[in-house]
Amino acid sequence: MNAPAKNEEFAVKIPDGVYAETVLDVQHYTDRLFRFRMTRPAGFRFRSGEFAMIGLMVGEKPIYRAYSIASPAWDEELEFFSIKVPDGPLTSHLQKIKPGDTVLMRKKPTGTLVLDALTPGKRLYMFSTGTGIAPFASLIRDPETYEKFEEVILTHTCREVSELKYGQDLMEEIRNHEFLSELVGDKLKLYSTVTREDYPFTGRITDLIENGKMFSDLGVPPLDPAVDRGMICGSAAMLKDTKELLERAGLTEGANNKPSEFVIERAFVG
Ligand code: A2P
Repeated sequence: MNAPAKNEEFAVKIPDGVYAETVLDVQHYTDRLFRFRMTRPAGFRFRSGEFAMIGLMVGEKPIYRAYSIASPAWDEELEFFSIKVPDGPLTSHLQKIKPGDTVLMRKKPTGTLVLDALTPGKRLYMFSTGTGIAPFASLIRDPETYEKFEEVILTHTCREVSELKYGQDLMEEIRNHEFLSELVGDKLKLYSTVTREDYPFTGRITDLIENGKMFSDLGVPPLDPAVDRGMICGSAAMLKDTKELLERAGLTEGANNKPSEFVIERAFVG
């Protein structure tokens, strides 16, 4: 048998059942947060708000973690918003990617933060902390969200002001977007709060719901299951505490096979 050609010898073998996509753009926000965009495989379909398994070859082995797709279903590219964990099995490598690098993605997306899992309502709240904003970055750029709801309120709470930038940039992008700006109009509000620095709005979203400050800041009435719908994405503790508050207000949790008044999903950490 002939010795393998040099380029074959060094070629990385892509596992079966996954897409190998090309990184197009990487933006670092802080030493803990970055976003990247990559090519979208021609046959890849997903619903805005879903997540996929994203991976890298580390040595001979692929390592995957769940990542919410931050781009909307209509986008020709795929976007992800990621934390950097210094010794994280995936993110310690993923944070070093550059345009032209290959990122793996398993073929089947899934998730509960989808419009189909909610019953019709007037006002949609998206409650997020940290990288939990990612699925909502997808949904706030999807026209269907504005067809289904009259008002969309995205809340984003982070420890520090610099961590809010991704969400603020999204609003700017929508305002400047050829079609979205008109479609979204003034239906979308971003309510950003910070817990460990000074900022015009401070505090955990759970406290701001409980003491009513979120409602007075936004000029909206208290939560009402007749008109309000919710989606929650954050840490396990944040999900639990926010879910309790929504349930106390009379909203019930839904799922893909049983739409109801709110849905939750853990913000994944790699
Ligand atoms: P805090 O600074 O008071 O812990 P993390 O990076 O730890 O996931 O936190 C992201 C944001 O979520 C922080 O502002 C944090 O506030 C907030 N947070 C953490 N736990 C909860 C919780 N149980 N309910 C609501 N917000 C939370």
